[in-house]
Amino acid sequence: MNWTQHSASAPEGVDLDHPNAARVYDYFLGGTANWAIDRVLGDKLAEMVPIIRAGARVNREFLGRVVRNCLENGITQFLDLGSGVPTVGNVHEVADEMDPDSRCVYVDCEAVAVAHARVLLERHGDEERHAVLHADLRDVRQVWKAAMKIGVLDPTKPVGLLMVSVLHFLDPQDQVAEVVRQYRDLLPSGSRMAISHCTLDSVQPDDLAQFQAAVDLYHASGNPAYPQDRPVIREYFGDFDLVEPGLVWLPEWHLDAGPSQQTRKMAKNPSSCCFVGGIGVKP
Ligand SMILES: C[S@@+](CC[C@H](N)C(=O)[O-])C[C@H]1O[C@@H](n2cnc3c(N)ncnc32)[C@H](O)[C@@H]1O
Repeated sequence: MNWTQHSASAPEGVDLDHPNAARVYDYFLGGTANWAIDRVLGDKLAEMVPIIRAGARVNREFLGRVVRNCLENGITQFLDLGSGVPTVGNVHEVADEMDPDSRCVYVDCEAVAVAHARVLLERHGDEERHAVLHADLRDVRQVWKAAMKIGVLDPTKPVGLLMVSVLHFLDPQDQVAEVVRQYRDLLPSGSRMAISHCTLDSVQPDDLAQFQAAVDLYHASGNPAYPQDRPVIREYFGDFDLVEPGLVWLPEWHLDAGPSQQTRKMAKNPSSCCFVGGIGVKP
C-alpha cells in the first residue's frame, strides 16, 4: 500500500466508520493520512472555529522549535508521546538536521499514526536510533519500560519528553496531572519536558458558545477534547524550572528557535491560537 496517497482502503485495525482526531489534525496540516469521514468533521470544526487550521500549524511549528531548543541545550534523545501521523517537521527529522546521532521513540494510540510512522521509519529511519510504539500514554510504566527496552533511548541521560497537543485529549477523570507527574519522576535530571495544550482562557464571552460547540462536536464524534485553564496546565510542570518566557501563548515562545511562518502571522494576536506551551527542565 502506498501510504502517501489517499486510499479508499485503510490498514488493518483502522476505523473508517468514525472520524479520528489524529487524522483530522493531519487534515488541518495538509497531510494525506485522512479519509472523507475525517475531512467532514474537520470542515465542520473549521466552520465553527476558523482559527483551528492555523492553530494546528502554529502548534506543529512550536513542536519544531521545542526540539531545536532541546538540542541546543544538549538533549539528543526524544520520547514523543501522542506523536500523531507523521507529517512535515517530524521530531526525528528536525533532530537529525541538528544532530545526525539524535534518537527518537514515537508513541501513539492511533493505528493510522503508528502505521504511518512505521513505514516512514522503515524507509527513512535508522532502526538503531528511531522506533515507534503503539501504546496509550496513560500506561506510564509500561510505556516507559517499553520505550527503554527497545534500546534506542539511554535512560541514564537527559530525555526530551514531548507532550505536544495531546494532554487535552485525556479525560480529566484519568488523573492527567498524576500521569504527567509519573513521567516527571521517571525522567533523569536535566531532562526537558515540553507541553502544548488547548485553552479557552482568552476566548471572548461573545465567542465562547461557538468554541464550546466545537468542543461538543469533538465529543459527539467520539474524540472528546478537554481544554484547560492555564493554572491547571502550569501545574503539569510541577517543580520543573520553566524555560523563559514560561508557559505562554505559542506565538510568544522562542520565535527565533526555528519554524514559525504561520506563527509569525499570529504573533500580533497570540492568544487567538488558543494554545499555550512551554518547556520545563528537571532540576
Ligand atoms: C493533535 S495530535 C498531535 C500530534 C503531535 N504531537 C503534534 O503536536 O504535532 C494528537 C495525537 O495524540 C494521540 N493521542 C491521544 N490520546 C492518546 C493517548 N492516550 N496515548 C497516546 N496517544 C494519544 C492521538 O492519536 C493523536 O495522534
